[in-house]
Formats: sequence, structure tokens, C-alpha cells
Amino acid sequence: MAQTIPRLQMGGKRVVLAVTGSIAAYKAVGLLRLLTQSGATVQVVMTEAATRFVAPLTFEVLSGSPVTSDLFAGHQDMKHLSLTERADLLLVAPCTANTLAKLALGLADNVLGTMALTLQCPLVICPAMDGDMWAHPTVQAHAETLRRRGAVLVEPEIGELASGQCGQGRLAAEETILATVEAIVQPRLDWQGERVLISAGPTQEPIDPVRFLSNGSSGKMGYALAEAAVLRGAEVVLVSGPTRLPRPSRVTVVPVVTADEMLHALTARFDWATTVIMAAAVGDFRPKQALSHKLKKEEWTGESLQLERTPDILLALSAQRTHQRMIGFAAETDHLLEHGQSKLRKKQLDMLVVNQVGGQQSAFGRDDNEVMVLTPDAPPVHMPRMPKRQLADKLLDHIGQVPVRAVRPSPASSSPSQ
Ligand SMILES: Cc1cc2nc3c(=O)[nH]c(=O)nc-3n(C[C@H](O)[C@H](O)[C@H](O)COP(=O)(O)O)c2cc1C
Repeated sequence: MAQTIPRLQMGGKRVVLAVTGSIAAYKAVGLLRLLTQSGATVQVVMTEAATRFVAPLTFEVLSGSPVTSDLFAGHQDMKHLSLTERADLLLVAPCTANTLAKLALGLADNVLGTMALTLQCPLVICPAMDGDMWAHPTVQAHAETLRRRGAVLVEPEIGELASGQCGQGRLAAEETILATVEAIVQPRLDWQGERVLISAGPTQEPIDPVRFLSNGSSGKMGYALAEAAVLRGAEVVLVSGPTRLPRPSRVTVVPVVTADEMLHALTARFDWATTVIMAAAVGDFRPKQALSHKLKKEEWTGESLQLERTPDILLALSAQRTHQRMIGFAAETDHLLEHGQSKLRKKQLDMLVVNQVGGQQSAFGRDDNEVMVLTPDAPPVHMPRMPKRQLADKLLDHIGQVPVRAVRPSPASSSPSQ
């Protein structure tokens, strides 16, 4: 029989797991198991609605402690205040739209709301709801209020929802939630002292003021890397093409649109960086001439769009390289290894992460990914499909092992950190 090997990364840590009335409440049982396997002591709090979805008994047996759900029961212990007194983290998973609103507004009509107002420890919120609910401006405003106040939001994923429809609203994968919780309560800080420059997302090349050439990159991989690196102690600048992703906390985000703007933004920060990770899907072509006015249907005479190459950002940065570790990403539809090896050599990279794009398994837009990692002096490493946030940590582990090659002396006055 397969055995789970305990990871005990959170030994001695105390987590309060708050479960709310979402259809995903049953997934909190799996999360509780992962947290306890990781060594954490877990106290479960449930909203009244959550108890309609999963019996508290399940959580009581698995956590080894009584579940708190009634604000007025056992009031002698003042549980709503005392539970989080010695907690290292409050994890709300799944978090309903209703509870998200209560937390943002400071409503205190249940145990969780009351507890949140006296909280001294980090708050991690994992929303789960119907896609239209998550997209609603009110819900987004509450999410943003909580982010600004320092809460960490683990974004819901895109996929099939309870309604049978596909959309963004599904509770993030257990591994993604656990990686976030572990990084907060037991920070590894192995990237402290590193200055990481990351590019993410697509670029857009204008055809006219309303149309552009672009690609289907969501930016999720680059954002996940930025989030993971900052939690591991790095200073991070994220140069991002247009995405719909929220700004990761403690990361400096430089928004850009075109390949030229991306090159400019990256070049300006290149000397500062100790590691450069180019996860953006930079468009290879752009219209030779962008029109200054919107091309009307009637104006178009059927001539084809003239394209030209955009700057090769990886090659341009690689040529200026002094002390930086250089990591590239390649999106390939076929012959992943051959195309990847050739790119690794041509662009003189320390590592190339090759994604499959196109088709059912396309890396674009998904919350998970499977990659091949190529380095100049070692055989390729296959990283199986996993949530992008978890993959980000695995890639950082790998990148951390890459020896830094001094290519030529840095013109910068500040000497590199290693
Ligand atoms: C079958 C069913 C499934 C539900 N799933 C969700 C959900 O996934 N997310 C959500 O925000 N609300 C969901 N709701 C609505 C909440 O249960 C409702 O807003 C409730 O008041 C939440 O209370 P709480 O935030 O105190 O737990 C669901 C309701 C029902 C009946």
C-alpha cells in the first residue's frame, strides 16, 4: 500500500483553519490532512453554513480538537479571541463570497469574523465560488481591500465549477495552498540577498489604436515565480505584459505592452539583477507600421499585413550579461527537446524551461504545467504536471543550484551579491 511520507515542514506551528459554506468545503478535509502531515497543529473553525456541507465531526476526528462554530457556545473561554492568540496563521479555505465581504468590511457576527478583528498573525484567504460571483466587481473590490491590508489571497483556479460551467472560481489546488502556508509560517529565505528580475505575460503589438497582435499567455507562471521568490527572501521586479492577474504583494511590478517596452524595462534593471528569469511570451512579430487611426472595414482593400521581427530580448540581454544567472522559457508546439537545446546554446543561457503550447495540454492560461528543464552540462530534467505555484518553488530550487558564471566585469558600481 502506498504510504504518505510526512514532510514535517511545519512542526510546532499552529494553524487555525476556517471553513466556510462553499460547495468546496469538503476539500478542507484534504487540506487539514496535509497541514497535520506537515507537522502543524490545526484548530478548525466553521461557519454555520459550512456545517451544512461537512459535519464538524470529520474535522474533530482528523484535527484531534473540537471544532468551534458557535460564537455563543463556550463563551466562558472567549474562544473567538483566544483561538488565534497563539496561532501562526489563520487560513480561510474555502472562503465564500459572503465571508470575503465580511472580512473586508470587518463584520463580526460569527466566530471567524470576530476572530479576524483581533488577529495578530498572517491571514491567508482561498476564495471558492461560481465564476460570475468571483468576477463581480463587489467581490473583486473586497478581495483587493483585503490584499491591500496585507492578507494573502490564493487565487481561485480556472476549471469546471459546481454549476457544470467552466470559469475562474474553483478552490486553488491543495498543494498551492500548502506551499503558500508553509512559505509564510516557515519561510525558507534561501533566496535572501538575491535580486530577481522576472518577465511575464504576453506582449501586444498594435495594428491600429484598437487592434493588436498578441498570444494566449496568461502570465501565471511568471507571477507564480515572483510570488515564490519574494516569499523566499528575494527582492523581485516583475516586468509584466498585459495580464488580468493581481499584483503579487511585495513585488515591484513594471507594466509594459510591447516587446520594445519590455526590452527597455528589462535593460534598465539588468545590472541590478543577480538572476533574470524570462517567463514572458514575447511576440516575435509586429506590424511594420501601426496605423494612427482605427482602420474601418470599408477602408481595408484586402492587402496583407506586413510584419517585421520584434527585438530578440533574450539574445539582447544575454549579450550584455556580466554576473547574472540567465534563465529562459521556451514555448514549443513540437520537438521540445531539439528546439530547446538549440535555444539554450544560441542564447547562452544557464537554464531553459521548455513548455508545450497548443493543444489540450497547452501551458497557456492553465493553472498547472509540465516542463522540461535544460541546462548546458546536465541531462534534461522532466518536471511532471503540477500547480504553477508549486512548480515555481521547484524551479527556484533548481535555479539556486546553477553556478553563477562571471561572463565579463560588471559596469555597475554596485558589486553583485554573489
Ligand atoms: C449548494 C450550495 C453551494 C454553495 N457554494 C458556494 C460557493 O462555492 N461559494 C460561495 O461563495 N457561496 C456558496 N454558496 C452560498 C453560501 O453558502 C452562502 O452565501 C452562505 O451564506 C455562506 O455563509 P458563510 O460565508 O458564513 O459560510 C453555496 C450555497 C449552496 C446552497
